[in-house]
Amino acid sequence: MARVNENFLKLPGSYLFSTIGKKVKEYQKANPDKKVIRLGIGDVTLPLPEAVVKALHTAADEMAVKETFRGYAPDLGYEFLRSAVVEHDFKSRGVELSIDEVFISDGAKSDSANIQEIFAADSRIAVCDPVYPVYVDSNVMAGRTGSYDAKTGRFSNVIYMPCTAENNFVPELPGETPDIIYLCFPNNPTGAALKKDELQKWVDYANEKKAVIIFDAAYEAYITQSDVPHSIYECEGAKTCAVELRSFSKNAGFTGTRLAYTVVPKELTVDGVALGALWARRHGTKFNGAPYMIQRAGEAVYSEEGKKQVAEMVGYYMRNAKVILDGLKTAGYTVSGGVDSPYIWLKTPNGMGSWEFFDYLLENADVVGTPGAGFGPSGEGYFRLTAFGSYENTLEAVLRIKKLGS
Ligand SMILES: Cc1ncc(COP(=O)(O)O)c(C=O)c1O
Repeated sequence: MARVNENFLKLPGSYLFSTIGKKVKEYQKANPDKKVIRLGIGDVTLPLPEAVVKALHTAADEMAVKETFRGYAPDLGYEFLRSAVVEHDFKSRGVELSIDEVFISDGAKSDSANIQEIFAADSRIAVCDPVYPVYVDSNVMAGRTGSYDAKTGRFSNVIYMPCTAENNFVPELPGETPDIIYLCFPNNPTGAALKKDELQKWVDYANEKKAVIIFDAAYEAYITQSDVPHSIYECEGAKTCAVELRSFSKNAGFTGTRLAYTVVPKELTVDGVALGALWARRHGTKFNGAPYMIQRAGEAVYSEEGKKQVAEMVGYYMRNAKVILDGLKTAGYTVSGGVDSPYIWLKTPNGMGSWEFFDYLLENADVVGTPGAGFGPSGEGYFRLTAFGSYENTLEAVLRIKKLGS
């Protein structure tokens, strides 16, 4: 008799974006003349850079010719892309990697969800709170957590590390010792970034405790401050304790095109087993490689033209971030993020709950954001706005929020 994986039943419904969608739809229906501005989405809105589109066309033409047609891609990625990654994302920052430490994939979402498979079933995980929900949910599905407590918004057997205004949204080293530590910096949703000495503390801690850090650097392209590391491997000793996740989604607009990679250094071993070998084995069994055309598009991101266009795109979004950050500060809001990140995290005014503020903003300014509580219990009382809208809409939204006062 077939039985379901009961761990899935522990997951509370993922109501965040569907609830937001429903509320906005109802509001629009009741107020058809209102122009609603959405600053809640984590998706990019600008089209792919020209260099990327050109590479896609060229690769598509290659696929139409017998001599240049490609079938299955190598499981771990084409050498041309892995070499470009090593050269441009790491060597240029003083980090030496070899191409077989880079594993190409179709997204940081899948990588961050799948990486837990190579660890023991009874590993204890530590996560920031609030957090990108994939880290916890994938471990719930794997049976690594206890049950969900609706009152606290937490699963048992998970170490939650609150990130609040009190600690500047930088987690403190946990009291209990975890086996796997998920860190995402620059952070979604708080927009906080870690300085090199702050990240070094985590690397030292993980090496001392023999824990592994899963470092999600999906927003690396948004870093503007020079003392914020772009890669965890800029910290001494990180190669023996950290896996790094990168994505082409937020820098080059690949959210619908799908391309990412994971770095697993050769020095990273657990119980004498190289984690890279396990990850390669997992990839080989469960993944048939990112498409040739998409990997060529990814390679184009590193061309001179591509780099320039990506910088322009990131610059466009960061101009929006500054508009939101400065505007809200002027209006008297307590805001953070938005400097090394496309996310702006604000304290809801007058003690309003996250969802209460969501309704307030929608009904009084026709602006949509994301309630912080949707990312974890420590997100209650906070609200996320994103810089991924158009410049004009961002200006308009901030003007409307300013008019409300705080
Ligand atoms: C922290 C974080 N990691 C990973 C992802 C997903 O990246 P990808 O589009 O490569 O799957 C997101 C997307 O919003 C994210 O916020």
